Amino acid sequence: MKNILNAPFVEEMKRITANMYRQGWDERNGGNISYMLEEEIVAEYLDLNNVIRTIPTGFDATKLIGKIFIVTGTGKYFKNVEHDPETNLGIIRIAKDGTTAELLWGYADGGKFTSELPAHLMSHMARLEVNPNNRVIMHTHPTYTLAMNHVHELDEKKLTHTLWEMCTECIVVFPDGIGVLPWMVCGTNEIGIATAEKMKEFRLVVWGLHGIYGAGKDIDEAFGLIETVEKAAQLYMLACSVQNPRMNTITDDNLRDLAKAFGLTYRTDFLD
Ligand code: 13P
Ligand code: ZN
Repeated sequence: MKNILNAPFVEEMKRITANMYRQGWDERNGGNISYMLEEEIVAEYLDLNNVIRTIPTGFDATKLIGKIFIVTGTGKYFKNVEHDPETNLGIIRIAKDGTTAELLWGYADGGKFTSELPAHLMSHMARLEVNPNNRVIMHTHPTYTLAMNHVHELDEKKLTHTLWEMCTECIVVFPDGIGVLPWMVCGTNEIGIATAEKMKEFRLVVWGLHGIYGAGKDIDEAFGLIETVEKAAQLYMLACSVQNPRMNTITDDNLRDLAKAFGLTYRTDFLD
């Protein structure tokens, strides 16, 4: 059996998380990646009969039964992946019931997959219908894309059009445009369903005032899509007047919903 720490897919995850962290997109535990692996290749590194533990996912992924993914861990920092992949990453296989993840490697401190697993696996299912070669779903919080969310209408046609106007290559890189969701509570099945619905049509989905999702046949495609949107958004923010009034914002009601969803004890007197 080969050493999993030298597997090309682990190396790729180490490189891309470190790179994304250095872009400034993945503060703290921000961002998550899921990457579908070939069973025969994983079998060179792991005994596929050895399930370390099982973890319920809370949603149905019947179409992905038997599929294996390397996935970033919840609460884990992208900046730490390269130094400790076994704690910050995990390799999971969707069990026969379609609602359980079998842990084959990783999450060594007892952790689990990203809280955004619903959006990831539901998006994998949606993209595979469109492109059987899709392997990667990537979520991150790119700085200028988010800044732009505060001053530009969150409308798919208008946002796509503005970004296409910013760099010549944009329409070439993402001719299919960008799907846009309004601000929603993250980490839920609801946002997963909404994201997957958009993924039937788009490889890029903006989560209003939160971040972006990219899909692709490999890490380069997913990253390249997001990187191109971010470059165009940076140009937009630099080019447009800083006097622009903010058109959209995360509302106090949104913040209350979030606090409720996550069971937070917070300074309610800081809200209006
Ligand atoms: P996780 O730490 O659960 O991956 O969440 C990070 C994030 O970006 C939530 O949207
Ligand atoms: Zn996020």
